Amino acid sequence: MRITPAHLEAKQWGWRHATRKDFALRGLDFDIQPGEHVLLLGASGAGKSTLMAGLAGVLGGSDEGEQEGSLTIDGIEAGIARGKAGLVLQDPDSQIILERVGDDAAFGCENLNIPRDEIWRRVRESLNLVGLKDIDLDRSTRHLSGGQRQRLALAGVLAMQPGLLLLDEPTANLDPDGVVEVHDAVRDVLARTGQTLVVVEHHIDVWMDLIDRVIVIGHPDPDSPVGGIIADGSPDEVFGRYGDLLAGGGAWVPGRAIPDRKPKDNVSSGDRPALITEDLSFGRGTALGEHIDLAFQSGEVTALMGPNGAGKSTLALTLAGLLEPLSGHVRVRADIADGARGDEPNRWKSRELLGRIGMVFQEPEHQFAAPLVRDEVAIGPKSMGADDAKAYAIADEMLERMNLSRFAKANPYTLSGGEKRRLSVASMLASAPKILVMDEPTFGQDFTTWTEMVDLIAGVRDRGSAVIVVTHDEALVEALHARRIMFGFAGE
Ligand SMILES: Nc1ncnc2c1ncn2[C@@H]1O[C@H](COP(=O)(O)OP(=O)(O)OP(=O)(O)O)[C@@H](O)[C@H]1O
Ligand SMILES: [Mg+2]
Repeated sequence: MRITPAHLEAKQWGWRHATRKDFALRGLDFDIQPGEHVLLLGASGAGKSTLMAGLAGVLGGSDEGEQEGSLTIDGIEAGIARGKAGLVLQDPDSQIILERVGDDAAFGCENLNIPRDEIWRRVRESLNLVGLKDIDLDRSTRHLSGGQRQRLALAGVLAMQPGLLLLDEPTANLDPDGVVEVHDAVRDVLARTGQTLVVVEHHIDVWMDLIDRVIVIGHPDPDSPVGGIIADGSPDEVFGRYGDLLAGGGAWVPGRAIPDRKPKDNVSSGDRPALITEDLSFGRGTALGEHIDLAFQSGEVTALMGPNGAGKSTLALTLAGLLEPLSGHVRVRADIADGARGDEPNRWKSRELLGRIGMVFQEPEHQFAAPLVRDEVAIGPKSMGADDAKAYAIADEMLERMNLSRFAKANPYTLSGGEKRRLSVASMLASAPKILVMDEPTFGQDFTTWTEMVDLIAGVRDRGSAVIVVTHDEALVEALHARRIMFGFAGE
C-alpha cells in the first residue's frame, strides 16, 4: 500500500487558544519533506499537541482560537486539507469508538464517503499491516489489550490513506509489550506506505530507530527568551549539539540519570499495615483476581505492575474504597479509620474517605470538580477543615512545584495532557491522605515535571502515607524504591 507522502510547511505559524491570552505556539517555521520521519520534542505544555491538532485540521475555527501565519499540507491550509492527515492520540480508550473491531477500523473511511467495497478492502489491508491480520472483525473492541487497541486506532487511520501520519504520545499509556507492538506496527507501516511521519513522545528512545529528524519547540514560559523552534536537525546533530539544552529543558534524553528517593528509615515494619486485603476477590461482574491477601505499610510505596487489561485499575479502585469487593474485605488500620463507620472503606461515605484515602484516577478528567485550577487543588484542604487562607496557600505551593502556577485561573479541562495529569496528582497530594492510590501518576511528563512529581510522592510517603501506584514507569519504581507486585491475567 504505497501512499503519496505529504509535504508540510509552517510559515510563522502560531495559535492562541480562545480562553488564553498567550499564544500556545508562535513564530513556527519549518519545511518537512515528503517521507521524512520527524520526532517532535518539547516540555509539557510547549504546544506539541496544539501543533498536531493544527496539522490534523481539528483545532477548530476562529471561535476556538486565533491563528497566525500559515500551516499547510501539500500546499493546502491544514484546517481544510481533509483526509490528508491521520492522528493517533495517547489514550486508546478515547479513540476506539465502535463496539466491533471491523466497524471501528472502518469509521474514519466512512466519514470520507469512500465506497463500501473499497473501505473493507482497505480495512483488511490496514489491520494486516499493523499485525492484527487474524483478528475477528466481529470481535468486541472492549476485549483488546492496550497495544492491540492502539494498533486498531492506527489501522483506522491508515485505512484513510493519509499522506501524513501524526502520532501524539501513542505509547504513553501502554505496558512494555504494548510499546514494542505499537513501535513495530509503525515501523512496518512506514516501510510499506512511505508516509510522512510526525511523532510526539517524551521518552525519546522508543522512536529513535525510526526517525531521521528532530524538531524541538521552546518552553512556553512567556518570560523566556526562547520560543518557537529551538532545535531542528538530524538526531545526531540535535542530541549532540543541543543535548545540554534539551536536558535543561526537561527532555528525557537517552541515558539520563534518574534521581534516588530512598525512603527514610524511621518507618518501622513492625507497625500494623495501613491497609490490608482479606481473601479479596475484585472485578466488575466477573472476577479479575481472587483470594488476594495483601498488606500496604505506611511510609512505603507499592507499585502494582503488569500488562494492560490485567485489572490493576480495578484493584486500585477497590483498594480506594470506590468499588465493592466481589467477596472478601479491604480493611484500614484502626487509627486511620477512627471516626468513620467501621474499617471497610467501601462502606464509607465520600466525606469519610477524605483525608483517609485519596485516589488519582487513570483519566485526570474523572477527578476535576472545580471550574478553576487553583480551586481544584484547594478543594481537598478546604474539605478537611482548612480555612481559605490556608487552603489556598497549600494550593499555591502545589501549583508552583508542579509548574502550573500560570494556569491558576484556567479551566482544568483546557490544560495540556501532561498538565492535566499534574493537576490531578497535585489535588490529591494537597490533602495528604493517609493512604494514597494513584493510577499511572507520571504519564505524559517531561523529565523536569516527572522529577518534581517523584519528589512530591516521596514527600507524602516520608510523612507517613501508604502510597500505592499502578504504573508501567520503571524509572518511578526505581527512584522511589517501591515494592513491586506483579499482575498477570487470571487463569494464566
Ligand atoms: N483547549 C485548550 N484551551 C485552552 N488552552 C489550551 C487548550 N489546549 C491546550 N492549551 C494550552 O496550550 C498550551 C500548549 O498545550 P499543548 O496541549 O499543545 O501542550 P503539549 O506540548 O502537548 O503538552 P503535554 O506534553 O503536556 O501534552 C498549554 O499551555 C495548554 O495549557
Ligand atoms: Mg500533548
